[in-house]
Amino acid sequence: MKFIVGVTGASGAVYAERLLRELLLGNHEVKLLITDTAKDIMAYELDFKLKEKQNEAQKQLREWMGLDFADERLEYIEISDLNSSICSGSYKVDGMIIIPCSMATLAAVKSGMSSNLLERAADVTLKERRPLIVVPRETPLNEIHLKNMLSLHRAGAFIVPAVPGFYHRPESIDDLVCFVVGRVFDVLGLEHNLYRRWNT
Ligand SMILES: Cc1cc2nc3c(=O)[nH]c(=O)nc-3n(C[C@H](O)[C@H](O)[C@H](O)COP(=O)(O)O)c2cc1C
Repeated sequence: MKFIVGVTGASGAVYAERLLRELLLGNHEVKLLITDTAKDIMAYELDFKLKEKQNEAQKQLREWMGLDFADERLEYIEISDLNSSICSGSYKVDGMIIIPCSMATLAAVKSGMSSNLLERAADVTLKERRPLIVVPRETPLNEIHLKNMLSLHRAGAFIVPAVPGFYHRPESIDDLVCFVVGRVFDVLGLEHNLYRRWNT
C-alpha cells in the first residue's frame, strides 16, 4: 500500500521515526513530508539533522531507515513542492498520517489552508474520502485545539492522540511509542505486533 506521512513541529519525532520504520518493514510505499519546525525537533529529539538539499535528504532518510539509498519505497518531498503528484486527488494513495501533529498544522488542515504540500495533501485526502490519521501532541489542550479536533473528526479524519496506554505493561520508551504507532496501524487496518492487546 502507499501512504503519505507528514511530520510536523510537535514534540514526539520518535513517533514518526517508528511509524516510518514499521511501514517500510511492511513493504509499504511512503511519501514523506517534513515541516521546517519538525526538522529542528528531529535534530533536537533524535539527533537527526536532515540535510538541506532534497536529493541529499532523501538519500540520508533512506539510509537512516536501513534502506538502500536508491530504494524508491521511501520518497522525500519538500513541502514547498506544490507541483508534486500528491497535490492532486487523481494520484492514488491509501491514506495519510500526520505524526506528530502540531496544533498549528491541525488548525491549518481544519481550515483547508493548503498553504504547503503537507496541508494540501491532507486536504486532498479528506476530499477524496481517504483515511486521514492525525496524531496530535499538545498538553493541556485549549478550547481552540479541542474545537479544531472536533471539526477534523467531523470532516472525516481520525484523531489518534499521542497518548499511550499502560495496560500492555510497557517496560521502555519504545514500548510506549509502539503502542501509539500500533493504534495508528489499527485504524489503518494494518497487521502488526507493536503492542500486546488487552487480554491476549
Ligand atoms: C522544541 C519544540 C517543541 C514543540 N512542541 C510542540 C507540541 O508538542 N505541540 C504543538 O502543537 N506545538 C509544539 N511546538 C510549536 C510548533 O513547532 C509551532 O507551532 C510551529 O509553528 C509548528 O509548525 P508546523 O506545524 O509547520 O510544523 C514546539 C516547538 C518547539 C521548538
